[in-house]
Amino acid sequence: MKKIVLILLFSIFLTTLVYSMSDEDIFYTKCTNCHGTEIIFKKKLNKKGWKKIIKKMNSYGANVNSSERNAIIRFLTNNKK
Ligand code: HEC
Repeated sequence: MKKIVLILLFSIFLTTLVYSMSDEDIFYTKCTNCHGTEIIFKKKLNKKGWKKIIKKMNSYGANVNSSERNAIIRFLTNNKK
């Protein structure tokens, strides 16, 4: 029983950790594993364009879920106008 409570508390802790990440944190954790930021920042795209790029990155194995994708798009479109 104690174990279950501990596991539950730990999952809550992990979830909070992920949800407390800023859009920028999510961007840097998800988008800088395979290449640098230059190839991303030199591109000027709208939301639709980024959505397409992120889908392509997922096909390479980027593993971005839909809420992370929204955060990344928010970050990229707020910073790069
Ligand atoms: C699993 C590895 C991987 C991850 C993670 C990844 N990329 Fe890429 N990315 C690539 C590869 C490989 C290329 C070069 C091939 C190409 O141009 O399609 C590339 C190229 C690009 C390009 C230039 C190519 C184009 O179509 O203009 C952009 C912009 C880009 N990535 C954005 C991102 C963003 C934003 C993220 C975070 C969601 C990301 N990448 C995460 C593998 C990855």
